Amino acid sequence: MAKLKLGVLGSGKGSNFRAIADAITAGSLEAEIGIVLSDVETSGILALARERKLRAEFVAPGKFKTKLEPEAEERTVALLREAGVELVVLAGWMRMIKAPLLAAFPRRIINIHPSLLPAFPGLEAWKQALAAGARETGCTVHYVDEGMDGGEIIAQSRVPVLPGDTPEKLHARIQLAEHALYPEVIRRLNAPPARAHA
Ligand code: GRF
Repeated sequence: MAKLKLGVLGSGKGSNFRAIADAITAGSLEAEIGIVLSDVETSGILALARERKLRAEFVAPGKFKTKLEPEAEERTVALLREAGVELVVLAGWMRMIKAPLLAAFPRRIINIHPSLLPAFPGLEAWKQALAAGARETGCTVHYVDEGMDGGEIIAQSRVPVLPGDTPEKLHARIQLAEHALYPEVIRRLNAPPARAHA
């Protein structure tokens, strides 16, 4: 099977990136990371990518807090294209995705979110789950559209909320589920379509 070329975008510590990179190294995911991009120059994800000798670039986000400036998004598209990226993987990317990137990769941008969407979209979903008294939460991989955490759901993994959970404990449990789910979903997206029975 041809190796799927990934572009990973993240703003944070990069544990999902690491899980994907580890799955590739272990041979359980036939893919290749073409480039890692971050809007945060000091992010863990860029440091982890550089440790692995992967191409890692900071994209200066510009003046907005919740999205890239149009020029920055155009640069992101150019970098992804130049790296031959086929699937854009958001892994802790904290900005909305707008037209230039969406149009360049139609149905080829995915995100992971720490709740069972459509429940608890937005920031710190694990805290929202605790505050709501949910007994179960989890994580969701979905296609990205112009909305926030609203694109078509691809897969979910359930995680129990346990008595005595703190936000930190619950988030750590959800992240373990994320690290298993994300590489698995990418593997499935690259699998040839199932053959119909004759
Ligand atoms: C994850 O919990 C993910 O669901 C959310 O941001 C977090 C990123 O964590 N979108 P990491 O940077 O991959 O460790």
